[in-house]
Amino acid sequence: MPSKILVGTQWGDEGKGKVTDVLSSEFDIVVRCQGGANAGHTVIANGHKLALHQIPSGVIYEGVVPVIGNGCIVDPKVVLEELAALKEQGISYDNLKISGNAHIVMPYHKDLDEAHERKLGKNLIGTTKRGVGPCYADKVSRIGLRMQDMLDEKIFNEKLETALIEKNPVLEKVYGLPTYTVNDIAKDYLEYAKVLRPYIIESSRYLNEALTEGKDILFEGSQATMLDIDFGTYPFVTSSNCVSGGAITGSGVGPTNIDTVIGVAKAYLTRVGSGPFPTELPEGDAVGETLCEQGHEYGTTTGRKRRCGYYDAVIVNYAARVNGLTELAITKLDVLSALNTIKICIAYDCNGERYTTVPEHQSKFYEAKPVYIEMPGWKTDITKIKNYVDLPREAKDYIDIIERLSGVPVTMVCVGPDRSQTIKRQR
Ligand code: IMP
Repeated sequence: MPSKILVGTQWGDEGKGKVTDVLSSEFDIVVRCQGGANAGHTVIANGHKLALHQIPSGVIYEGVVPVIGNGCIVDPKVVLEELAALKEQGISYDNLKISGNAHIVMPYHKDLDEAHERKLGKNLIGTTKRGVGPCYADKVSRIGLRMQDMLDEKIFNEKLETALIEKNPVLEKVYGLPTYTVNDIAKDYLEYAKVLRPYIIESSRYLNEALTEGKDILFEGSQATMLDIDFGTYPFVTSSNCVSGGAITGSGVGPTNIDTVIGVAKAYLTRVGSGPFPTELPEGDAVGETLCEQGHEYGTTTGRKRRCGYYDAVIVNYAARVNGLTELAITKLDVLSALNTIKICIAYDCNGERYTTVPEHQSKFYEAKPVYIEMPGWKTDITKIKNYVDLPREAKDYIDIIERLSGVPVTMVCVGPDRSQTIKRQR
C-alpha cells in the first residue's frame, strides 16, 4: 500500500475521520500536516467515544505510528488532556511523535483569537477560538516558539521574552486585555515539556527514513479545500494550507513519494463559521433541518450547529483541480435516504453569467446562485448494504453524477458512522 494524502474537498466536517479510520489499518504511519486544536474527530475506542483534536486518529491502532507534523500547531495542554483520555481507555500512545518544528499555541494566541473576533463584530470569521490564526501569524512573522524550544528552558524564556515585547502592547492597548510575564507562561509550559520531551523528534527525517524502509504513510488533512488560506473563501478560511500541497510542506516529505490523493466529500454540504455558501438552505428549511438532524451536524470542537445545504459539484470539481485528486470518498450517503428528491448544484448563475467552476473573483462567488438538477431519492434504508451493486439504482445514479461532474472516480461510499458501514469500490 503506497503513500496517500487525504484531504477535505468542501468546508470541513466531511467525515475525514471516518475515512482515515477505515484506511489507517492499511498504513504504518498516519501523519497530520497542518492545523491545530481547531480540528476535531470523534473516534470510537473500546466502545467509548473520544474526541481528538491534536492527536492523529491513527493512535487507536496498534502498530500505527501517529505523527504530528511540522506544519501543525500544537497546544500542549490539549495534547496532555488527550493523552490522559487515551490512558483512561487503556490506549497506548508510546509511539506518538511530534515534530520539533511544529509551532506552539500560547495562551496569548487564544486571547487574541477571541478578542479579534469580538472586534470584527458582525464581520467575524467564526473561528474555533483555538488561537490558530494568531499562532500561524507569529510563525510567519518569525516570533513564534516551536516544540523544540520547550526542550531548552533558556531558549524558551529568551524567545518568549522577545515575543511578549510585541504581544503585550497589542493585548493591552489594542484589546484592553491582561498582559503576560515570561514566568506566567513558562511555569506551565516547561512542566508540559517534561511530559512531552520523549515524543518530540525531527519528523521529516523520521518519515523519509520510514519511506526508505518501505513503510506506507497516510497524510491526514485537517479542515478542507474551501477553508485553505490560499484556495478557500478568504478571509473566511483557516490559516494553513489544507490542500494536498500542505501535506508536503507540513511533513518534509517530497511530492515524488506520494502515489494517490483521496478527496473526502460529504453527500451534501455543511459549513460552520461565516462566509459564502451558495447551496445553503435557509434556517428552518425542512430539507436543511433533516440534513442537520439525520446527519448530527453539530461541531466536534465547538458544538455549533452547522449550516446545511445541497451537494455542490462546482466546489468538488475545483477541489479535484487544486488537490490533484485521484479518487473520491463519498460520506454520509445514508443521510439522504430521508429525502423524496435530491438536488445537486452543477453551476452558478452570477448576475446572469454562468460559472461551472469557482469564480475567480470573490464578489462573484458571493452573488453565486446555484443552478440545480433534481434527482429522485431512494427512500430506503441503505445502512446495511455492503456491496456497491446492491445500492438502489437512484443512489448509484447519484454517485455516477458526482463522478462525472468531478472527473474523479468514487472508490469509497459511506452508508453509516461505523467502520463496517463502508462500501469499497474497485475502479
Ligand atoms: P480557525 O481555524 O479556528 O481560525 O477558524 C477559521 C474558520 O475555519 C472558521 O470558519 C471555522 O469554523 C473553520 N474551521 C476550522 N477548523 C475546522 C474544522 O475542523 N471543521 C470545520 N470548520 C473548521
